[in-house]
Parts: sequence; C-alpha cells; structure tokens
Amino acid sequence: MTYTKILGTGSYLPKRIVTNDELSERMETTDEWIRARTGIEQRHMAAPNESSVDMAEQAARRAMESAGVTGEELDLIICATSTPEHLFPSNATQLQARLGCRTIPAFDMQAVCSGFVYALSTADKFIKCGGYQRILVLGAELFTNALNWEDRTTAILFGDGAGAVVVGPSEEPGIYGSVLHSDGGYKELLWAPQGPGSSAEDYPNRGRFIEMQGRDVFKVAVRSLSSLVGELLEHCDFDAADIDYLVPHQANLRIISATAEHLNLPMEKVIVTVNKHANTSAASVPLALDHGVRSGQIQRGHNLLLEAFGGGFTWGGCILTY
Ligand code: UT7
Repeated sequence: MTYTKILGTGSYLPKRIVTNDELSERMETTDEWIRARTGIEQRHMAAPNESSVDMAEQAARRAMESAGVTGEELDLIICATSTPEHLFPSNATQLQARLGCRTIPAFDMQAVCSGFVYALSTADKFIKCGGYQRILVLGAELFTNALNWEDRTTAILFGDGAGAVVVGPSEEPGIYGSVLHSDGGYKELLWAPQGPGSSAEDYPNRGRFIEMQGRDVFKVAVRSLSSLVGELLEHCDFDAADIDYLVPHQANLRIISATAEHLNLPMEKVIVTVNKHANTSAASVPLALDHGVRSGQIQRGHNLLLEAFGGGFTWGGCILTY
C-alpha cells in the first residue's frame, strides 16, 4: 500500500514581534485579558516590504532543505492562503518561478484557517492517484493586513507567518486518512465581507477587514472539533491512546485544551504555539508542526493528529505517522 509521507518541514516567522502590552497602548485592552481569554502573549508581524509569498518562499526553502528536495524535483505546489499577495496570479505560481521548478501545476487553496489540512488532504489524493512524487504544501498568511486595528475583539487575535511540508509516496505508514467539512450557513460569524467579486450593491459600507462574533465562533469550534476527532479516529481505525501528539490549529488555548481533553490527551502531548504566534490562519498548523519537529518533541514514527477550524465555517483534520 502507498502512503503519503511527510519528508520535511519548514516555517518562517517575520522578525517583528508585537507584544500584548504594545497592543494595549493602541487600543482598550490588557495583557492580562488577552492571556486569560486566548493564551496569546505575542504575535509576529510582517515587515512593510514583506508579502505572504516572501514568507512562503522562506518556509518552502526550509522544508525542501529538510526533505533534501530541490525545486526541479517538485511535481506540484499547493499554497493554502486567504491573504494571497495578488488576487491573481496565485502565491503558488509565484513560488513555482522563485523555487526554480519545471512548469509543474501550482495553485492556491482557500479554506481560511483549515486551508492547510484541506491542502494536505488534496496532496494525499494526488500522491495516491500516482504520478506525483514530490509535492510542496504550504500555509502562508499576512493576516495583520486584514485586521481592523480599531476593533479590539479581532485585532489582538492574529499574526503573520508561513509553514510548509514536502510530501511524497512511501511504503511505510504516513497519512492514514483525512476528514473535511464545511457549513457555509455560518458565514457571517467570521468573515471579511468585501471581496473583489462582491456585487456592486453588496456591503457598500463595509471593508475588506475581518469581522467575527467571537463567542459564537468559539462554541461552534469546540463542538465541531470534539466531534471531528472522534470521526477521524473512527475513519482511520485509530485509538486515541495511540496518538503521540495533537497538532491543532492555534486560535485559542481554551479551544485547544477542550479538544485535547476530548481525546484524553495531557497537554504535554499537544503542540502549543498560540502563545508565541497567535492565530496565523492557514499557516498555524504547519508552523506548529515544524516547531514540534525542530524542538525535538515530534520524532519519526510518532502518530500525529492534525486538526483545524475556521471561517466558512470549514473544519477538518488527518491522522498520520510522521
Ligand atoms: O481561527 C478561526 C477560529 N476563531 C476562533 O476560534 C476564535 C473563537 N473565539 C474566541 O477565541 C473568543 O471568543 C475570543 C477570544 C474572541 C473572545 O473571548 P470571550 O471569552 O468569548 O469574550 P467575549 O467576546 O464574550 O467578551 C467578553 C468581554 C466583553 O465585554 P462585556 O460585554 O462582557 O462587558 C468584550 O467587550 O470582553 C470584552 N472584550 C475585551 N476586553 C479587553 C472583547 N475583546 C476585548 C479585548 N480586551 N481585546
């Protein structure tokens, strides 16, 4: 049987760190409130001359180096992002040129915070269908550009960054399976109303910034992720006791803890980066994965459960042996 295996991981965070205290000078909030309600202590913010493609390129180069794969060897690039540098062309095609690839297929995928798990699941299908040997999968976001800095309920939550993996076929276990969901009925609980394709009459007084009903999103996120992990274990015929690490989407430490509790996993078995990175949307899971690998927590042979929940709503996850 052919599995999709993660051959290497990489990530990139912009240099500038913005602490909660710095935000409290700009808006009515406190370090204490942000830590207590979210677990966030700081976030990274892209430099004025840095785009989501620039960050993705750095993460990609690190993942390719750790996988021992050159740009010429890649067969496909999938970049999960809701903050592409341009409306078009996609981030992925820019990466194709920058990384010295052949004229391979390259496309962006938009599933907001679940983008990376959607993209990884898509790459898994390409590998299993045959013909694709090396696929670069990324999550890259410049969310601080999409924030209304007058709105303390959203501005404190997000950060910038990129994460990447290179995957390829293997006879040894890799991805066992994935489960993906969406429910567009919730769109107005977490959205950026105005898009380039909005009708001329729609949303005339609203901007391109993120708007969220945090408390309602929180409740649906906890409920959906709790049900997702049970569904994933069943789908992959896995026992929760056999999961070595949960690599969750990093939106809120309270949501992460609730999911871990549902799996009966102690927090030592959870990769947590929300304190340092805040919510980096599609970049959050690959950033956490790379952090877990490079810190030595995640080792070859470990079983990982990756999950995410975000705008749409979209949610999903997968179980794999690293
Ligand atoms: O990645 C996509 C998924 N996104 C998420 O999963 C986010 C889910 N939601 C959350 O993480 C939480 O709902 C938040 C962190 C956004 C908010 O936490 P909460 O415990 O749900 O707070 P709340 O929205 O119920 O607000 C509690 C109070 C309110 O004041 P009143 O009405 O009780 O007087 C808010 O106005 O806290 C106030 N508040 C703040 N206070 C200080 C809201 N934002 C802030 C702030 N600083 N930044």
